[in-house]
Parts: sequence; C-alpha cells; structure tokens
Amino acid sequence: MLQQTTSSAKRLKAGKMLEYAIFAVTFVVFLIAAVIYLYPGSSKPSSIPGLDPTTEEDGNVSDIARAGSLHEFLLDLHKQFGSIASFWMGQKFVVSIHSPELFKQHQNVFDRPPELFKLFEPFIGTASIQYANGKDGRNRRNHYDKPLSHESLKQYYNDFQEVANELEKKWSTLVKEEHIPLSQYMSAFALKIVLRALFGQSFKDDKEVLEFRRNYDICWSEMERNLTEPAEPGSQRQKVFEEAYSVIKNIMENIIKHRKENPPKENEDKLLVDVILETVTSESQKFDDCITFAVGGLHTTGNALTWCFYFLATHPEVQDKVYKEIKKELGNNDVDFKNINDLRFDPDRFSPENVKSRPAMAFQPFGFAGKRICPGYRFAYAEATVCLVTLLRKFKVNMVEGQVVNPVHGLVTHPEDEIWITIEKR
Ligand code: HEM
Ligand SMILES: *[C@@H]1O[C@H](CO)[C@@H](O)[C@H](O)[C@H]1NC(C)=O
Ligand SMILES: *[C@@H]1O[C@H](CO)[C@@H](O)[C@H](O)[C@H]1NC(C)=O
Repeated sequence: MLQQTTSSAKRLKAGKMLEYAIFAVTFVVFLIAAVIYLYPGSSKPSSIPGLDPTTEEDGNVSDIARAGSLHEFLLDLHKQFGSIASFWMGQKFVVSIHSPELFKQHQNVFDRPPELFKLFEPFIGTASIQYANGKDGRNRRNHYDKPLSHESLKQYYNDFQEVANELEKKWSTLVKEEHIPLSQYMSAFALKIVLRALFGQSFKDDKEVLEFRRNYDICWSEMERNLTEPAEPGSQRQKVFEEAYSVIKNIMENIIKHRKENPPKENEDKLLVDVILETVTSESQKFDDCITFAVGGLHTTGNALTWCFYFLATHPEVQDKVYKEIKKELGNNDVDFKNINDLRFDPDRFSPENVKSRPAMAFQPFGFAGKRICPGYRFAYAEATVCLVTLLRKFKVNMVEGQVVNPVHGLVTHPEDEIWITIEKR
C-alpha cells in the first residue's frame, strides 16, 4: 500500500503539466474504467441498486444509445443511484463504481468485461489484449509491460524529440494568419511516435500518415455510430467501413512484415512489436495486439494533446505560465529522461493544496486497477511533454475566432469538429 502511494506521488510529480491536459480528455475513459466489475449471472445481487434490463436480450444497451454514449449514460445512472450502481450490458449484469474509495477497494482486480469494448471488435479483433482476462491476459501484460517500463522509456526520447522537431519545423514555415487544423496535427504526431518507437517504422512521407489517419477516422466514427444507429450487414455503411479497415490492415501488415525482416540486432533493445511477435503464437493474435497498441497510442494521446493546446489557447495566462516554466527549468535544453521531473508547472487545479484536499484516487486517467492500468501511461506522459515543450517554447498558440467547440463523448472525448488555431513565433 505504501509503495503504491509513493509511486503514484512520483507519477504525479512527473506529470503535473500534463495532468491538466489529460484531465480534459480522459474524463470519459475514467468513467468507462469504472465499469470494470462484472458479475456474470442471471439474477442480480439484491444489495446493489440499479436498473432492471429494458429487454431481456439487450439489457440497457438501448438506453445507453439513447443517452448518447456510455459516458452520459453512466452520469445519469450514478446521479440516480449513487456511487455504486448496476445495469445490464446485453445479458451481463454490470456494476459501475464511481468514487475514489470504491476504486481503492478494487485495485487488485485484473479481469475486465469484454462486453464493454465489444463495439470495437471489428477493428481491434477478437483476439486483442483488450479482451484477454485471467492467466492469458496477465501473461501477455507481463511481457508487453517490459518495453514500456520506466527503464525502457529512456530509449524513446530521441524518437519523441525527432518527431517533435519535424513538427516544429513544419509550423515554422507557416505564416501568422494561417489556420492550422489542430487535431490532425496532434493525431499525426501521436501516430508517428507510436509507429516509430514501438514498431520501428518511420513513414517515408506524411501522405501515408494522413492516409492511415483518414481511414482510421472513418472506421472509428462508424463503430461509434453503430451504437446508436446499427448498420445493416451488407449496407453501404458497412462497405465503407470495410474498405477503410482494409487500408489500415494493409499498412499494419506491412509494418509488421518490415520488422520481421529487420529484427533488432543483438546489441539493440527489443521493441514492443518484437515482444508481441515472440510472446503470442497465433498469427491473428499477433496482428490484433499490434493494432490494439497502435490504436491505444494514437487515439488517446492525439486527443489529449489536442485538448491541451485548446485549453492553453483559450487561457493565454496559463500558456504564459507554461512558457515561463519551460524557460526557467530547461533554458534551451530538450526534455530528457533526467529533467522531465523538474517541470512542475501547476495549473491551479493541480496546485499542492488542491491536490492535498482531494482523495488520492480522484484522478485516475489511466485506470485504477493496478495490474490493468494503461500500459502506455509513462510513454504518453513523456511524448506529450516533449511535444508541448518543443512547440510552446517556439510558438504562442491562439484560437481562430468564432469557433464553437463541442466535446463528443465516444470512447475518448474528442472535439465534434476540427479545432482551428493560429500560431505566433515567440
Ligand atoms: C493520454 C493518453 C492515454 C490515456 C488517457 C490512456 C488511458 C487508458 C485507460 C483508461 C485504459 C484502460 C485501463 C483499465 O481498464 O483499467 C487503457 C488501456 C490501454 N492503453 Fe492506454 N491511455 C493512453 C495512452 C496509451 C498509449 C500511448 C498506449 C500505447 C503505448 C496505450 C495502450 C493501451 C493498451 C494496449 C490498453 C489495453 C491494456 C489491457 O487490455 O490490458 N495507451 N488506456
Ligand atoms: C434500463 O432498464 C430499466 C428497466 O426496464 C428502465 O426502467 C430504465 O429506464 C432503463 N434505462 C435507464 C437509463 O434508466
Ligand atoms: C455494426 O453492427 C452490426 C449489428 O450489430 C454488426 O453486424 C456490424 O459488424 C457492425 N459494424 C461495425 C463497423 O461495427
């Protein structure tokens, strides 16, 4: 227990600046993570308040669709029933918890109901780590966590910096009035980083990155839409999905093939892709885990960075504080393994007093169940910090006037439309 507290205190320190950003994006993920506890069976334990299924087959799934998303459904559910409440996901009885105290009690749980992410199965595949529980799940996580450990992280800073420098160079060529599509840039950044650092692949040019991203967006919005408006098998929508998916599949297969043909030399570190290839035996499982990690790394961090720049652009006084902090702590040095912890920028939400007045597990953007926590959390903090520092020390970020920015609660909160910004050189 003590150890847990110490390590989370350390994490807190390393990520102050980012917590602010991540808070914005992960509100949803945080709630989804809360629905971890599933009690299979047909009769519900009478002590847990909650809903009876609307229909025997779908449970409350139609109600989730009506609420707009699982996030909005859960907000209503907990408002109605308090911090522990039940509902039916199809024929599975699900208990959702919604308080730091309850998170703490469930820290040792590993298994997660596969039904929760069923919606994404057409993309990440049935054999994905996302659905693996019990011995198999723990075994795969034990292996996959190694290339993402605290120690392994050191090797990625160069990759992070190179990709951030490319982006900085690109932005330097833009004129002051030019409107910049923020989320496109940020997801391209996150995608390039993941594929380079974890899969050993650098795209030759941005065309391929954009192609990946465009088709990925088609697949993802189709799967989210499928919850509220299910597509008929064989329909035009289904065809569009399948075409987009085959583009992604093809790119991923080539990346894996390339790595198989160019494995690490004896003195080189194993990348995540190498570990996946040697850990699991089935070809489909290899592919599904690769695509799961690519998605896990692209979607989340891309959106976290998007929201981060958005909030900094709409709060210029906070952006100034960040800039001063970077100058003071780093001067002109790049972020690296050693100095990342010196960035202690505290937006007021994360000031020491405010942190102290909150329960320890009030903010769990990467999940709260120790062994099942997001395997990429250190990686995400580090790459995002490098991106923020590299761009914010060179540019002041402003909003293009007159935009209405609406958050959409999918699996990860994203803006309804593109967010447009302009930049000024510092
Ligand atoms: C801001 C960035 C990120 C956020 C907020 C985030 C959040 C989360 C959350 C909440 C979970 C579920 C944890 C649970 O069920 O208790 C998760 C799982 C996962 N994340 Fe992340 N994540 C981020 C970045 C990344 C990155 C960079 C990678 C890849 C390196 C990644 C890969 C994964 C994978 C593979 C899983 C599933 C693990 C399993 O099934 O055991 N994530 N993430
Ligand atoms: C879930 O099912 C119950 C029982 O049929 C129903 O009363 C309830 O309205 C449903 N959904 C929600 C969000 O309340
Ligand atoms: C959408 O839902 C239908 C019916 O549940 C399913 O057959 C189809 O595969 C889903 N499509 C996608 C893209 O998720």
